[in-house]
Amino acid sequence: MVQVPVYYFSSGSGMVKLFATRLGRPVFDLGNRHVRRSVPEGPWVLLTPSYKTGNPDNDALPEPVRRFLRHPLTRRRLVGIMGSGNRNFGAHYQAAARQIARASGRPILFEFELQGTPWDLERAREILAELDARYSHVEG
Ligand SMILES: Cc1cc2nc3c(=O)[nH]c(=O)nc-3n(C[C@H](O)[C@H](O)[C@H](O)COP(=O)(O)O)c2cc1C
Repeated sequence: MVQVPVYYFSSGSGMVKLFATRLGRPVFDLGNRHVRRSVPEGPWVLLTPSYKTGNPDNDALPEPVRRFLRHPLTRRRLVGIMGSGNRNFGAHYQAAARQIARASGRPILFEFELQGTPWDLERAREILAELDARYSHVEG
């Protein structure tokens, strides 16, 4: 069965990267320019942290994620979003993932804090396996 790929962004602290690389499926790093310029060939999932700065205009969406989502086909093929955040950010918890969900109409599939717990990883794997089954016959 084809595995739905996960495209992720992770900062220098690498918490999302750690989680992504343990999912046991194809994952692509949006910190890589070639990845950012590509267009997923079929259904894909976004995994993003949130980064609120002191700037009131900042919407917590990492810039590489914003750029990747510029392509209409990329947006159309997005099937869901997973978010990593930190509850210390209160009202801004998961701001980036939730904003993309609102704007795209795609569901938040899963939210976790920091690099996630072993349980978080297991749950994310299950959710993605369900997507594999659902999208195994879908083209573009
Ligand atoms: C400067 C800064 C701003 C952050 N802003 C938010 C935020 O607005 N909402 C949230 O849920 N988490 C926020 N976080 C937490 C990160 O999203 C979280 O730690 C995530 O796991 C980081 O993933 P990464 O290490 O792969 O970049 C922030 C962290 C930092 C360092």
